[in-house]
Amino acid sequence: MKTLVVFYSKTGFTRQYAQWLAEDLGAECVAYEKRKGIKLDRYDAIAFGGRLHAGVICGAKWFFKRAAGLEGKRLALFFTGATPPGDKVVEAAVRQNMPPELRGRIPAFYLWAGLNYEKMGAVDRIMMAMLRKMLAAKKGPSPEEQEMARMVAGSYDKVDRGYLREVEAYLRG
Ligand SMILES: Cc1cc2nc3c(=O)[nH]c(=O)nc-3n(C[C@H](O)[C@H](O)[C@H](O)COP(=O)(O)O)c2cc1C
Repeated sequence: MKTLVVFYSKTGFTRQYAQWLAEDLGAECVAYEKRKGIKLDRYDAIAFGGRLHAGVICGAKWFFKRAAGLEGKRLALFFTGATPPGDKVVEAAVRQNMPPELRGRIPAFYLWAGLNYEKMGAVDRIMMAMLRKMLAAKKGPSPEEQEMARMVAGSYDKVDRGYLREVEAYLRG
């Protein structure tokens, strides 16, 4: 079976997961920036992975658009973020990002990653600084807001190869 992994990554977490996935499945692994010219119809299974960015799964729009022409292929979406894992993360991301007609067809898998301020671009750093400021200014913050403030205070890495188990099982069929 020929498998392809395409990933969108800025600070390296999604790239790490994509590379492990490709290694475990004997798949080809291509960065989103190099996607032009890839013949998707040459593969039996295709996984797309992107980072969460203010609720948006970066690059996923491209994947969903291409999915329309990939009938009969095994397709999967994975996405990384700073939020601790749980069903709600997946539900919210699918609701916000995936067109309704693809929801039964492309399963989505959340892989907990973390934050890397050292590798973040300037715009992202500013966005995170604004979020920290907003959370710090909250009067009587909820437990969720307190937890979020703790989580965005600095860099951390929650990447775990074990999170790939489900997406690998799905892609193997
Ligand atoms: C500006 C900004 C917005 C983010 N928004 C979210 C988000 O909505 N949900 C989440 O779980 N993580 C969010 N994150 C964390 C990233 O999704 C996380 O660091 C991701 O794993 C980065 O992937 P990459 O290293 O492959 O670029 C955000 C990070 C930045 C810098």
